[in-house]
Amino acid sequence: MKSLVLYYSGTGSSRYLAERMARELQCDIEAIRPRWDVPFLMMSGLHLGNKELRTDIDHYDRIVLCGPVWMGQFIAPLKSFVKKYRNHIRELVFVTSCGSSDEKKDEKFGYEQVFKQVRTLLNEKCKHCVAFPIPLVLPEDKKNDSELLMKTRLNDANFKGEILERWEGLMRELNPNQHLQPTF
Ligand SMILES: Cc1cc2nc3c(=O)[nH]c(=O)nc-3n(C[C@H](O)[C@H](O)[C@H](O)COP(=O)(O)O)c2cc1C
Repeated sequence: MKSLVLYYSGTGSSRYLAERMARELQCDIEAIRPRWDVPFLMMSGLHLGNKELRTDIDHYDRIVLCGPVWMGQFIAPLKSFVKKYRNHIRELVFVTSCGSSDEKKDEKFGYEQVFKQVRTLLNEKCKHCVAFPIPLVLPEDKKNDSELLMKTRLNDANFKGEILERWEGLMRELNPNQHLQPTF
């Protein structure tokens, strides 16, 4: 299955996930480039669309879309991409890095709100939605420290333990042959 990773990242955590994904799937990757890349204005609804992709997505069986959650929303650059290419996407996997913990996923700013929006736009083409919450990389006593949460970026040094197990679970789904145990 030929995959393409597309991502938008404000502060780098989604880029980390996207680059790791492209490396492990050994597939192409491209950043989604808003015409006007001003997160604060995009959040307030001012989004002028994205620049043209350099890649022809018709050549790919699966799109892996990575990006953050802002204000409980499926962010404008990603939504704009999905709306524009909905008929060209065969399968989509949505991967988010977000501040909301699993415990808070169903709250107003939780990642499940975003997953619902993605599934509504793509129906059965949306194969997986997986969150990699920043609290998973924080120490137990700091998981509710909102200042630390906003400052922390995913990287090789902190991507271990529960978050890595979740990642490996997703990779087994996306790349089953890679994870087959050898038989003797
Ligand atoms: C302005 C702003 C709003 C945010 N709103 C949410 C939110 O509603 N829910 C959430 O889970 N995380 C929220 N976050 C946290 C980001 O999703 C999180 O920091 C994510 O890892 C950023 O990814 P990036 O580095 O790829 O931009 C918000 C972050 C910012 C800067």
